[in-house]
Amino acid sequence: MRLTSPKSGLLTAAFLALFETAKGHSWPESTRRIATNGTFIGNEGFDRAHIDREKPTEQFDYLLPPNGRATGKLITWDLPIVRASQGPLMDSSYSEKFPMLKVAPGDYAAIFYLENGHVTRADGANPNKPINRGTIYLYGTYENDLSKTTLTDVLHTWTADGKGGNGKGRLLATRNYDDGQCHEPIPVTGDPEGISKFRKDEITNSESLRCQSDFQVPLDAKPGKVLTILWVWDWPDMNKPGVAVPPASFHANSSEFGDHFVTVPEIYTGVVDYQIVDPCDDSLGEVKGPTCTKNSKFKFDPKQPAENRAIQRQMAQPFMVKVPQAGFGDQDRSSAKLSPAAREGRASADKANIPLAALIGKETKPPVPFSMDILEGQKNVTDIVAPQPTTGTETSTPAPPKPTSEPGRGDGVFYVTVTVPKSFVTVTVAATATVSQGV
Ligand SMILES: *[C@@H]1O[C@H](CO)[C@@H](O)[C@H](O)[C@H]1NC(C)=O
Ligand SMILES: *[C@@H]1O[C@H](CO)[C@@H](O)[C@H](O)[C@H]1NC(C)=O
Ligand SMILES: *[C@@H]1O[C@H](CO)[C@@H](O)[C@H](O)[C@H]1NC(C)=O
Repeated sequence: MRLTSPKSGLLTAAFLALFETAKGHSWPESTRRIATNGTFIGNEGFDRAHIDREKPTEQFDYLLPPNGRATGKLITWDLPIVRASQGPLMDSSYSEKFPMLKVAPGDYAAIFYLENGHVTRADGANPNKPINRGTIYLYGTYENDLSKTTLTDVLHTWTADGKGGNGKGRLLATRNYDDGQCHEPIPVTGDPEGISKFRKDEITNSESLRCQSDFQVPLDAKPGKVLTILWVWDWPDMNKPGVAVPPASFHANSSEFGDHFVTVPEIYTGVVDYQIVDPCDDSLGEVKGPTCTKNSKFKFDPKQPAENRAIQRQMAQPFMVKVPQAGFGDQDRSSAKLSPAAREGRASADKANIPLAALIGKETKPPVPFSMDILEGQKNVTDIVAPQPTTGTETSTPAPPKPTSEPGRGDGVFYVTVTVPKSFVTVTVAATATVSQGV
C-alpha cells in the first residue's frame, strides 16, 4: 500500500479504512514556519526519527499506557514519554529527506497531524470521548535527550512559567485536537455526521485538510540551540458523554476529581525539534524571523485558503484549554476559597473555542446526521474570550496575549499585543480589518 500526501485524492476511504485498522491514531508528522500574515512559508520540516509513510512499519503512533485499551490500565511514573527511537536526538534522527526545521526566535510554527477519523467520524463507536477530541499539550525544552524523561515528568507537571517539576521545560500551548477545520475526504461509504461535507463546503474548500497545532517559538530562544517540542495528545474515555475537555488528571477512575472523570487513559505523543537560528539568518530564506526587523507586526489575513495558512485563533491564544499549569485557577488545591474546578486542578473549557460545542453536556449519543445548528456552531468558535492567568508569568515567557474580539463569524476580527521583555520588538497579532484601530 502506498500512501501519498494527505491531500492526495488517492487517499480514499478504502485506504483510510485500511490505514485506520493498521495504525489508527495520530502523531505529529511535519511542521512549517508561519509568516506574520498567517501564511505557511518555506519547506516542511519533520518530527524526530520520522517514520516514512511509504515504508511499511508496525509502529506509527506511540500510545500511553502502552497496553492498549484495557480498562483500568493506569499511567505510572516510569512510562517513557516517547517511543524508544525518539528518545535520543542523534544525527540520524533527521535526514536530507526528513530534515529538522530551522526557525527564528518569536516565529510561529504549525505542527501537522492527520485526524484519522477522530474528528470527522466523531467516534460514534465511543461516545464517551471528550467533545474537543482531546487536548494537545505542547511543551518546549532545550534538554534534547528524552531517553530518561517520563510522561509524568512532563504532563501536568511542567508549567508555562518554567518552574514546574524538574524545571527543564515549559508548557507553551494547549490546543483542542479538533482544530475546527481539519477533515477527511467524504468516504464512499457516506458521511453520516456531516462534518466532512460541512467543512469542505463552508470552512476549507478542500477535499481534506490536515489538522494543525500552532505555537510560538519562545522569543528568548537562543540561536544555536535545538528547541525540542513534545506534542502530547490526551484522548481518554470519560465516564460519560458530553464532556467538553478531558480534566487535567490522567488517572483512571479518579472519581474524587468530580462528576467528570477518566475511565480509560489514552495518550499519544511525538517529538518535533527545531534548529534555532538568528532572526536574520540567510538559511531562513526570504522571510526572516519577526525580530529581525524592529516593530514587526503580525497581521493575519483570514481570506487565504485554509490549506495555506495557520489558524488565527491559535496564534492569538496560547492556552485554548485553560489548565492550572498555565496559571488558570490555582494550583494550591487546599484553599477552601477556590472554585471546585480550580480545587480539582481541572482543565476547563472555553466553549467558544470548541468546535461542535453544541454537543457539550449531551448525555446521549447524538443522532446523526448532526443538525445544522450543531454544524453551524463550528463557525462560532471565534468569539475569543481569554481569561488571564491568575499566577504571574516569568519575564522569559512572553505574556499570554490579551485578545479582544468583535462579534462576527468566520475568522473573527481581533488583535493581540504581546509585549516582549528586554530589547525585543513588540509583536502584534492583528486581523487586517483592525489595523486602522491601531494598538
Ligand atoms: C504572506 O506573507 C508571505 C511572506 O511575506 C508572502 O509570501 C505571502 O504571499 C503572503 N500571503 C498573503 C495571502 O498575502
Ligand atoms: C474504572 O471504571 C470502569 C468503569 O466504571 C470499571 O469498569 C473499571 O473496573 C475501573 N477501573 C479501576 C482500576 O478501578
Ligand atoms: C452563532 O453565532 C450567531 C451570531 O452571534 C448566533 O446568532 C447563532 O445563534 C450562533 N449559533 C450557534 C449554533 O451557536
